[in-house]
Amino acid sequence: MKRNAKTADWQSVLQGKTVGVGLTGSFCTMRQVLGQLRQLREIPGLSLQPILSDNVQRLDSKFGKAEEWQADLRDMGAEAPMLTIPAAEPIGPAGMLDVMMIAPCTGNTLAKLALGITDGPVLMAAKAHLRNEKPLLIALATNDALGANAKNLGLLMNTRHVYFVPLGQDDPIKKPRSLIFDAGLLPDALAAACEGRQLQPILRQY
Ligand SMILES: Cc1cc2nc3c(=O)[nH]c(=O)nc-3n(C[C@H](O)[C@H](O)[C@H](O)COP(=O)(O)O)c2cc1C
Repeated sequence: MKRNAKTADWQSVLQGKTVGVGLTGSFCTMRQVLGQLRQLREIPGLSLQPILSDNVQRLDSKFGKAEEWQADLRDMGAEAPMLTIPAAEPIGPAGMLDVMMIAPCTGNTLAKLALGITDGPVLMAAKAHLRNEKPLLIALATNDALGANAKNLGLLMNTRHVYFVPLGQDDPIKKPRSLIFDAGLLPDALAAACEGRQLQPILRQY
């Protein structure tokens, strides 16, 4: 299929931008996201403002330790992470971010965002950022995207200023309700969101 809407030059669109990155507990996709963030950090003048969910701050898993994610972010030269609701709140009044992404975004965070629940730093940041009518990009990775979370996905796909990294079924046989974002399209999707566009095609075939 033809990729008709790739952003011609995402580097130049993203130059000089302040990008908020809300990281939530999809631990299996964390390294892929960190790899993409490292690439983004090389764009001149781009600054990365991480915001970490409570679970990303405290849970170790077979995919890595909580402290490793923070060390990696420090190592790539990201700003000091926002770790609490009060730390993230000024994103709204100070208009701190040009664009924000939630990457990776869990089913848990997707559901709360769709329902207007703001009980953690990433959700606080997203709420504060959206209040300024600025773009929010979601890199969704969840086993229930076509199940319990399908309604929330549909709701957010139809919400102003919310965009998605193209996503697809990663294992239709063993995990028929699972969808995962295409990490390689994250920079393109971010540049498109900055321009108020959804990168197409939004459905990805793995
Ligand atoms: C090893 C491991 C991997 C996980 N991967 C995912 C995932 O890919 N997607 C998802 O929605 N939840 C995943 N979870 C569950 C979330 O971490 C859990 O729902 C948590 O409450 C999310 O909190 P947060 O959205 O505030 O970060 C995983 C949990 C563990 C322990």
